[in-house]
Amino acid sequence: MDYSAQLIAAETAARKAGAFLRARFHEVHQVDEELAHDIKLRLDKETQALIVESLAAQYPDYSVLGEEGCGAGASADSPQWIIDPIDGTVNYFYGIPIFCVSIALRVGAQTVLGCVYDPMQDECFTVCKGGAPCLNGRPIQVSARTQMAQAVVFIGHGTHDGSGAAGIARFAHVSAQVRKIRILGSAALTLCYIAAGRFDAYIENRINLWDFAAARVILEAAGGACEYTPTSADLLSGSVIAWNGKLPIHAALRTS
Ligand code: IPD
Repeated sequence: MDYSAQLIAAETAARKAGAFLRARFHEVHQVDEELAHDIKLRLDKETQALIVESLAAQYPDYSVLGEEGCGAGASADSPQWIIDPIDGTVNYFYGIPIFCVSIALRVGAQTVLGCVYDPMQDECFTVCKGGAPCLNGRPIQVSARTQMAQAVVFIGHGTHDGSGAAGIARFAHVSAQVRKIRILGSAALTLCYIAAGRFDAYIENRINLWDFAAARVILEAAGGACEYTPTSADLLSGSVIAWNGKLPIHAALRTS
């Protein structure tokens, strides 16, 4: 099955949402919910609604799994859009221009396409399963780095209780072995940067499926690898280790 038409629909929706977010970037944003390590904005919901409206115009029967809630499709086993309207919400709220819109399409157990759009850099990462992963239409691939000593590794500071602390412990452990450690604040963009060969690995203790579903399929198509170990009963959140497929990341993470 060819999903290139659905990828065009996803990119169109992501670019519309991105333009909407870019236009509002300097405004004061309404906070719907404030958690210890997270913020939910009214704009998260508005952006997801805009994306769903755009996608549903062409694919009314597809269901939706999104950070801002779900919508049922016509049938239970219909293809499902997995949407994160703003990945990097805390960055966005604090005026840090590192965030993106993330849209994947899942059919059965397979993610068949991914689109991650960074509106501030106008960078759109895309792939259709079986096709070439691209950044603004140009093919991308992971870095050739094989040694931890050359690597730039990202650590996620998660929003769930305890996962930030676990991230910081890893930060300390891994930082001694690599060239640089970073925390970008957007898991989807981080995975796409690994796909594009800019950085080499990403580790987060607990992350939600919509944060990385689209970027994962882009990274894997670019030669990278991503291990997801669900830790919640609904399988919607878990730990992620993503890398260029070449680094000895597991050995580097071992503490004994
Ligand atoms: C968050 C970002 C962040 C990651 C968190 C996510 P959100 O997504 O991806 O990088 O560390 O675990 O929740 O809440 O901004 O969509």
